[in-house]
Amino acid sequence: MDLKGTVAIVTGGARGIGRGIAYELAKEGARVAIADLPATSADRDETIAGIKRLGSDAVAIDVDVRDFAQCQAMVQKTIDAWGQVDILVNNAGVIKVGPVFMFAEEDWDFIQDINVKGTFLCSKAVAPHMMQRRKGRIVNLSSMAGKSGRGGVSAYCTSKFAVIGFTQALAEEMGQFDVTVNAVCPGEVDTYMWREVLLPAIALGTGVSKEEAWEQAAVKNVPLKRPQTVEDIGQAVAFLCKADNITGESINVTGGSEMH
Ligand SMILES: NC(=O)c1ccc[n+]([C@@H]2O[C@H](COP(=O)([O-])OP(=O)(O)OC[C@H]3O[C@@H](n4cnc5c(N)ncnc54)[C@H](O)[C@@H]3O)[C@@H](O)[C@H]2O)c1
Repeated sequence: MDLKGTVAIVTGGARGIGRGIAYELAKEGARVAIADLPATSADRDETIAGIKRLGSDAVAIDVDVRDFAQCQAMVQKTIDAWGQVDILVNNAGVIKVGPVFMFAEEDWDFIQDINVKGTFLCSKAVAPHMMQRRKGRIVNLSSMAGKSGRGGVSAYCTSKFAVIGFTQALAEEMGQFDVTVNAVCPGEVDTYMWREVLLPAIALGTGVSKEEAWEQAAVKNVPLKRPQTVEDIGQAVAFLCKADNITGESINVTGGSEMH
């Protein structure tokens, strides 16, 4: 699919990887609805200004992906703005750290509600429109933690494995409507998630500094000896949106850390 003139929704698009995806899609000529929690409005305004500097158009949409009525309104507002939705990127996601025996049940539910149910609800909201147009791309954000389990992030791993299963199931359903459904699995990208959640926990658990923990995880342990950038992830998403004959795939963008 040629992305010029297409319309994309990026959930969690205000900052981090979501912003990187929005920019890469905008560079290809897509208009982008930045759908995120109202609390992110300052970051979201910055993302929208960035898209406009790239010569494309963007709108801000408030959404909590855990609420189906809000997901439906997100799709409708995008159609009201530009008449169509060609691409949905289910990027909104959260993480919490802790061993299973101490992990709070409400934290488990919080992670599944956003990472898994949110992906389902946004896809459910956009599917009838894409089926009717017989055109569309859905790209879900999983993780290398969705390919192999890691201690300390069981709820997150579970959610990201689920996203891959959901991606394959939805790809089978939507194939007959010429809608592709794929996932991108990043490794280590320097965003809020790593800086504010993972690194403090690793540093506390291992007694090393946050900088050392990052160096170990994102450089030394990675075959390509560097972290991934939000641009790397955005380019993978844009590639999957352009590809006409790839569906049900989950592509690692991990610098080689995850090879299976
Ligand atoms: N950073 C990494 O290394 C990494 C690795 C693998 C996968 N991922 C995945 O990439 C995606 C983006 O993560 P990031 O690293 O940019 O983190 P981030 O915390 O910077 O961004 C997450 C975004 O999701 C939004 N969000 C959270 N809850 C929401 C809700 N209920 N409704 C709508 N939006 C909500 C946040 O406001 C934020 O804008 C996530 O799905 C994450 O699991 C990240």
